[in-house]
Amino acid sequence: MAQLLLIENAKPFISDCVGCARRLFVGPGWRIVAGDRAHAICDECAFKVDPTITVQRDRSNGRLDDSMPPTIVETRRLLLREFVPDDAAAFYELNRDPEVVRHTGEGNEGPQSVEEARAVLVARPIADYRRFGFGRCACVCKETGELVGMCGLKYLDDLGVVDLGYRFQRTSWGRGLATEAARAMVELGFGRLSLGRIVGLVEPGHTPSIRVLEKVGMRFDRMVDYRGDPVAQYVVLAPEPQTL
Ligand SMILES: CC(C)(COP(=O)(O)OP(=O)(O)OC[C@H]1O[C@@H](n2cnc3c(N)ncnc32)[C@H](O)[C@@H]1OP(=O)(O)O)[C@@H](O)C(=O)NCCC(=O)NCCS
Repeated sequence: MAQLLLIENAKPFISDCVGCARRLFVGPGWRIVAGDRAHAICDECAFKVDPTITVQRDRSNGRLDDSMPPTIVETRRLLLREFVPDDAAAFYELNRDPEVVRHTGEGNEGPQSVEEARAVLVARPIADYRRFGFGRCACVCKETGELVGMCGLKYLDDLGVVDLGYRFQRTSWGRGLATEAARAMVELGFGRLSLGRIVGLVEPGHTPSIRVLEKVGMRFDRMVDYRGDPVAQYVVLAPEPQTL
């Protein structure tokens, strides 16, 4: 059997699983190499090949207590951490405001109850943390401890890009929180996650969101079709490494 070796802190890449051909985003901490070519294998296939292989990922983020969700990033006013199922009530409240979901492409398809919100959290961001090592995060106000929004990076399977997304409670708008959170997430993407490129998808004319994208350094790239809707794709590239 090929020797499987885990390389930490390598550049992420997109690859098909060598077992089931499912497309994988192979992030830092879980690249697997056999011979001189890099291959990726999903958890399930790794287990089928050899039940003793565990695909390890360095996702500790410095966390000391395993019962706590890892803090991803801290900004001046926000704690950006992974969602947990118990965020369901706050997540439901955030998404039930029609003004908050007006430009998110979900319309009335968001969670209709706290239980549905819990299922969405488990199936989307929480599954993303496990699969890719990152996903949309809960934005918690440091002063009040309240979950006021969501912001983060998400790998979009259908477009093969890493997308920056955000939404905040209406009562929090206009205070610069989205920009503060989005900047931190772009830094995370180009820093700890070693991404080369991050995109933002936005409805043309949705000025507040376009301003956030521009303020984190993104520029209009082109129109793309996303799940049947034409959306504007904004892009920012990783900064060139500085030479001394
Ligand atoms: C988009 C959203 C996240 C912005 O959050 P926010 O915390 O109010 O954003 P900020 O305070 O950081 O402001 C960002 C910029 O948008 C501008 N802005 C905010 N509301 C605006 C409005 N109604 N019209 C025009 N510009 C607006 C701000 O002035 C600021 O730009 P400036 O610094 O040049 O003045 C928030 O409106 C939201 O949650 N909307 C619902 C969800 C959503 O649409 N998400 C994006 C999907 S693509």
